[in-house]
Amino acid sequence: MSDLDTLEGDLLRQVSETSDEASLDAVRVAALGKKGSVSELLKTLGAMTPEARKERGPLINGLRDRVQGAIGTRREALAEAALTARLSAERIDVTLPVRDAPEARGRIHPISQVLDEITAIFADMGFAVAEGPDIETDDYNFTALNFPPGHPAREMHDTFFLAPDRNGQRKVLRTHTSPVQIRTMRSQEPPIRVICPGRTYRHDSDQTHTPMFHQVEGLVIDKAANIANLKWVLEEFCRTFFEVDAVKMRFRPSFFPFTEPSAEVDIQCSRKGGEIRFGEGTDWLEILGCGMVHPNVLRNCGLDPDSVQGFAFGMGIDRIAMLKYGMPDLRPFFEADVRWLEHYGFRPLDIPSLVAGLTA
Ligand code: DAH
Repeated sequence: MSDLDTLEGDLLRQVSETSDEASLDAVRVAALGKKGSVSELLKTLGAMTPEARKERGPLINGLRDRVQGAIGTRREALAEAALTARLSAERIDVTLPVRDAPEARGRIHPISQVLDEITAIFADMGFAVAEGPDIETDDYNFTALNFPPGHPAREMHDTFFLAPDRNGQRKVLRTHTSPVQIRTMRSQEPPIRVICPGRTYRHDSDQTHTPMFHQVEGLVIDKAANIANLKWVLEEFCRTFFEVDAVKMRFRPSFFPFTEPSAEVDIQCSRKGGEIRFGEGTDWLEILGCGMVHPNVLRNCGLDPDSVQGFAFGMGIDRIAMLKYGMPDLRPFFEADVRWLEHYGFRPLDIPSLVAGLTA
């Protein structure tokens, strides 16, 4: 083998062993640079005899061309490999889940959801929504509702009183939503058919009581509204709200100053296995108070008990939310813990309606 063949084999091997552009360039300079091994050979041609040059010229030039060619090919291969490596390193997996949009991540509080459910059901029965202030006068919260001054029922409400005003009057944080009955009857002509949802306050706190809670009041006043109508409305409500075909209800005689007769309503349920189910079982759960509006209350609102009558009911929203959605403790409702809300909250676009289904 000639010295040229040895050199060529050597150079081509070096070229093929390079792993990046820098090492390839080093090989190129060592072979074809000014003082490179191949360049040095080319320089020797000038000093040769014409015959020798004729013979060695094509050999050395051929060597140079092949080495140059090999370097070019290798450069392309290295560039391609580098590009492939970069592309795979920078690849984005577009199949990864996109971060949820706010309307998918946000949650509606169970109270708001249940309130929307209640409103949808009563709206379907022709009820409008009425509202009143959280801070009430003693008259609206008690006196006009037929609580005589000094009546023990006032104490039973664990009332929060505000400091006396200039006239010595003490306003209260309303202890129930019943004052909205008075506001409605004093501002609207019968026939009246309203529900009054809102916040209520009592000095009480344990697993099922918080100082602030929610109630919804119902009031129907016209010429002939009677107990049978009241029972139908409540049964229809419970059946739809608890999403069962039939509910058994029990009307227990009770006392409220603003209704006569008065009743507390229990619904039948089963508590087997720690889970409450409605429409079956042998247990009873109290869910609301109701009655025929007391004639004194009608009179206090300027209505004549001989020409109009009606019924009313009041129910704890938090309580029926706990029952329906199996929440054991009321206190976390008001602790604003995102984890609780993520677990018990509702998707913003799951808006309750009777057509689409209350709970989607
Ligand atoms: N206001 C009552 C309470 O908070 C609930 C209630 C009972 C409301 C009977 C009514 C009713 O309208 O008729 O305990």
